[in-house]
Amino acid sequence: MASASLVSSALKRLQGKVALVTGAASGIGECTARLFSKQGAKLVIADVQDELGRSVCRELDADDAHCSFVHCDVTAEEDVQNAVNTAVSKYGKLDIMFNNAGPFLGTKHAARVMIPNRRGSIITTASICSVIGGVASHAYTSSKHGVVGLMKNTAVELGQYGIRVNCVSPYVVATPLAKDFFKLDDDGVYRLYSNLKEALLKPEDVAQAALYLASDDSQYVSGHNLVVDGGFTVVNPVTRTLYLDINGICDLLQIILSQEKSIFRLNELVRTLRQQLLQCRCSNETKNSTFGPLTEHVIELERLAGPGGLG
Ligand SMILES: NC(=O)c1ccc[n+]([C@@H]2O[C@H](COP(=O)([O-])OP(=O)(O)OC[C@H]3O[C@@H](n4cnc5c(N)ncnc54)[C@H](O)[C@@H]3O)[C@@H](O)[C@H]2O)c1
Repeated sequence: MASASLVSSALKRLQGKVALVTGAASGIGECTARLFSKQGAKLVIADVQDELGRSVCRELDADDAHCSFVHCDVTAEEDVQNAVNTAVSKYGKLDIMFNNAGPFLGTKHAARVMIPNRRGSIITTASICSVIGGVASHAYTSSKHGVVGLMKNTAVELGQYGIRVNCVSPYVVATPLAKDFFKLDDDGVYRLYSNLKEALLKPEDVAQAALYLASDDSQYVSGHNLVVDGGFTVVNPVTRTLYLDINGICDLLQIILSQEKSIFRLNELVRTLRQQLLQCRCSNETKNSTFGPLTEHVIELERLAGPGGLG
C-alpha cells in the first residue's frame, strides 16, 4: 500500500510545487486548477467570484491544507500582490504563476518572489487571436497580441534568473465567456468550424497544455506561445473549401476521361484544371476568380461532348 502511494506521488508532475491560478473560479482557469491540484501542486485560487472560487477550493481540499482561495481582481495591484504573498506565506514559495486572467500585474508580482529562488514558470492564457486577425474584436485581438509581446519580453528579462515565461493559446472552448460572446450553447460552440475533425476542444485540453508548461517536462521551453487549436491558425478555411470543391470536380473529370480515353483534348483540359487547382492553393484567389476559369473549362467539356453528354 505504502509503495503504491510512493509510486503514484512520484508520477505526479507537480509534486512539491506551489501554483497560483488567476480567473480560477470558472472555465479554463478552474479546469487547470483542478488538474494542477490532481498533479500534486499546492494551490492558490484567485478570482473576483468569491462564492464560486471558494466552492472549487473546498472541493479540492476541504481542510484548506493544500488549496486556498483569495479574492483577487487582477486589475488591482494590491489584490495581485496579496494573492502572490498568500502563496508564499501559506506554502513557502511560488513555482507556477498561471495568469489565466490579467498577465501584467501577475507577471510583475510572480517575478518579484521567483527571482530570489532563481526558478519558476509563468504562463499566460492568450488565444488564437494572438497570432491571427479577423476572428474577434479589435480590442480583444490587440490585447492578446500584446499579451504575447509581454510574454516574449519578460521571457528574455527573466531568463537570467532561471524563470520561464510562456503562453497557451486556445481556439474556441465552450466556457461561459465563449458562449456569451457567440450567444451559443455548448452544442452551438462545438458546431463552429474546426480544422481537426473527430475531436472537440475542451478546457481539459488547454489545462494539459498549461500543465506541460508548468511542469519540469518543459524545463527548456521559454518565450513560446503554445497554440492549442487543432491546426486552425495554419489553415485558410476558404482556400481549403475551394481546394476540396475543385479537387472534387477534377476527380469527376478523371472518371469521365476513363470512359473516353480517345479524346486527347479532354486530357489537356484536366491538366489545365489541375494547374488551376495548384494556383488556387498557393495564391489565395477569391472564390469568383477561381471558379470563373473552371466554369469555362466545364462548358468547353460539355460542348465537346455534344448533345448526348459525356456519359
Ligand atoms: N473560451 C474560449 O474560447 C477562449 C479561447 C481563447 C482564449 N480564452 C481566454 O481564456 C481565459 C479564460 O477564459 P474562459 O473562457 O475560461 O472564461 P470564463 O468566463 O469561464 O472564466 C474567466 C474567469 O476569470 C474571472 N475573472 C474575470 N475578470 C477577472 C478579474 N478582473 N480578476 C480576476 N478574475 C477575473 C471570472 O470571474 C471567471 O472565473 C481568458 O483570458 C480568455 O480570453 C478563452
